[in-house]
Amino acid sequence: MSERKKITINTLMEMKQKGEKITMLTCYDFLMATMLDDAGIDMVLVGDSLANVVLGYESTIPVTMEEMLHHCKAVTRGIKNAFVVGDMPFMSYQASTEEALKNAGRFLKESNVSAVKLEGGEEVLETIRKIVDAGIPVMGHLGLTPQSVNVFGGYGLRGSTKEESEKIINDARKIEKAGVFAIVLEKIPSALAKEITESVRVPTIGIGAGSDCDGQVLVSHDMLGLFEQYKPKFVKRYAEISQIMKKCFKDYIGEVKSKEFPAQEHSY
Ligand code: KIV
Repeated sequence: MSERKKITINTLMEMKQKGEKITMLTCYDFLMATMLDDAGIDMVLVGDSLANVVLGYESTIPVTMEEMLHHCKAVTRGIKNAFVVGDMPFMSYQASTEEALKNAGRFLKESNVSAVKLEGGEEVLETIRKIVDAGIPVMGHLGLTPQSVNVFGGYGLRGSTKEESEKIINDARKIEKAGVFAIVLEKIPSALAKEITESVRVPTIGIGAGSDCDGQVLVSHDMLGLFEQYKPKFVKRYAEISQIMKKCFKDYIGEVKSKEFPAQEHSY
């Protein structure tokens, strides 16, 4: 069997050129990182969705640099080959380019990720340039950018009007020029994602953006059926892990109460 090679930004670019789809899933801990890496995932995103699916916040707004770094460190300890991206949390890159650079640097120095992701287009161009110029790969994120939920007034589809779709296409071209190595396209019409994918050289990674993107990303806890609170249309559940876990917990509780566990074989 051939040894898997470490994925780099060059590998990702080659995959786009060859038409080979790029796979990405989110991850927040060591154990799942080892499983994703063993399964052969190309990219792992320590997303700020950490806020919702692990830390129990209502949105991604409250999650902090320290919380993100803590989980990035756990994930990188479990990864051998996948390319790991750390998501810059809300207000870690918006106040000034200097602060953005310092925080992006912390992701690489303290948590050993290979790149950072930040949300936005035109308004973050200078920030992207500064971080990339310092030697830190940046992944862009356009369309539904959850850190701006209060400006959008919700988590609805983006890019459905002519004005908005033109802004997203122009933003994609601008952030490519500023130096991003890939762009996440979230919850936009498939036709718009196809147009963007064909008009930029860097890979596009879609989530709710149809099948024509160069790759796909989902929140692991959504696709595993581990996070049950809500399920966007774009999520495919590959299992109902939460149901299995709840059954295990109930069985354990029942067996301890009934004194069926521990049995002789579990005792010394
Ligand atoms: O935080 C996250 O999980 C993300 C993905 C939805 C792309 O940004």
